[in-house]
Amino acid sequence: MRTQVAIIGAGPAGLLLSHLLHLQGIESIVLESRSREEIEATIRAGVLEQGTMDILTEAGVGDRMRAEGALHHGIELAFGGRRHRIDLTELTGKAITVYPQHEVIKDLVAARVAAQGQLLFQVTDVGIQGVETTQPSVTFTHKGEQHKIEADFVVGADGYHGVSRPAMPGQEQRNNYQKIYPFGWFGILVEAPISSEELIYAQHERGFALISTRTPTVQRMYFQCDPTDHVDNWSDDRIWAELHARTESNDGWKLKEGKIFQKGIIGMRSFVSTPMQSGRLFLAGDAAHIVPPTGAKGMNLAVSDVALLARGLDQFYKKGSEQRLQTYTEDALKRIWRAEYFSWTMTRLLHTFADATPFEREMQRAELDNVVNSRALATSLAENYVGAF
Ligand code: FAD
Ligand code: DHB
Repeated sequence: MRTQVAIIGAGPAGLLLSHLLHLQGIESIVLESRSREEIEATIRAGVLEQGTMDILTEAGVGDRMRAEGALHHGIELAFGGRRHRIDLTELTGKAITVYPQHEVIKDLVAARVAAQGQLLFQVTDVGIQGVETTQPSVTFTHKGEQHKIEADFVVGADGYHGVSRPAMPGQEQRNNYQKIYPFGWFGILVEAPISSEELIYAQHERGFALISTRTPTVQRMYFQCDPTDHVDNWSDDRIWAELHARTESNDGWKLKEGKIFQKGIIGMRSFVSTPMQSGRLFLAGDAAHIVPPTGAKGMNLAVSDVALLARGLDQFYKKGSEQRLQTYTEDALKRIWRAEYFSWTMTRLLHTFADATPFEREMQRAELDNVVNSRALATSLAENYVGAF
């Protein structure tokens, strides 16, 4: 097989890159280890920044997102029994859309299939060769047969646990920046009406909680937990008791309960691995960096990485220039480090740290007070949240 760009991983990064390249007349093949059903059913992110919405819309894959996603103009920070609104649109002129990642995946897969794009599911044994030459290749097994793709470029969009980052040459010289948090998120999906028109990020001494939504009848909620805990330890009653306690409000507002139909625990880390390129191999999305989910940035970073890569590859094929490709890591990292900073700040601001001293706990509360009382600080949070720059 031969193509221009071999892409490993059909997450938001790999699928969107393949679609953007197609729009630019550049061929690609996407290799995915899971099945189409699995990638279209994995519940993950929910918040799309304005810039992500614009990219999906311009690429012609935003119709369902605009029709079915919910535009949110604000978020709420809850602490000390009170809810405080951060008016994103008034402070930044921008908004966010709550539209689940697996729906973005469905839209992108549909677009690739409609364009007869090459998208191979359930591949195994993916290997990358010759990235320091101008003819790299990718080997893999599909339906019991071994294959080799010869390409001009290879893009590793295979997430944190993929094979691309370990395949980067010069592992000893790589810079890996990492912070593992001493807590995780317990996430649930619930059949219930919407409890709040806007997302609630709650800080409480029992731990963080987040009230999000999916549709008018399905809600998404998270609460801070021990990352080594097991979902079986959490009966529905125990989950509701914890969520009620952490979101308690003295203005009469109350969380609406419903049937919990999905439970899961995720660990939390900050991680950046540089450089994001070596010869003809480029990393994009979670393959190169992870943020804790508190800032809702992960999928948005995956989208902005591949928007940069698509521009670089366009310049290469249309003008024969590698200039933008050469500065890919540098250009992408500017946004990545800002998002890492914001995600770390939000995590620090809203979670309970078991080892925090009473003084540190008061400092955390004072910081929250400052954010909701200072227009300057609220604007900064809002700009980062919507991805205003
Ligand atoms: P992935 O989505 O991980 O896709 C990688 C793909 O590569 C996968 O389909 C995988 O099966 C495939 N793959 C792996 N190894 C191989 C291999 N060897 N060969 C072939 N294929 C392979 N982000 C936000 O922006 N907003 C949010 O609100 C948000 N909330 C989140 C909530 C949760 C609970 C979680 C877990 C994450 C959240 N994120 C959020 C983060 C977001 O989901 C990720 O950042 C995003 O999925 C990254 O996309 P990606 O394409 O880089 O990687
Ligand atoms: C969702 C996830 C997040 O990480 C976040 O910050 C906001 C919303 C969600 O899944 O809806």
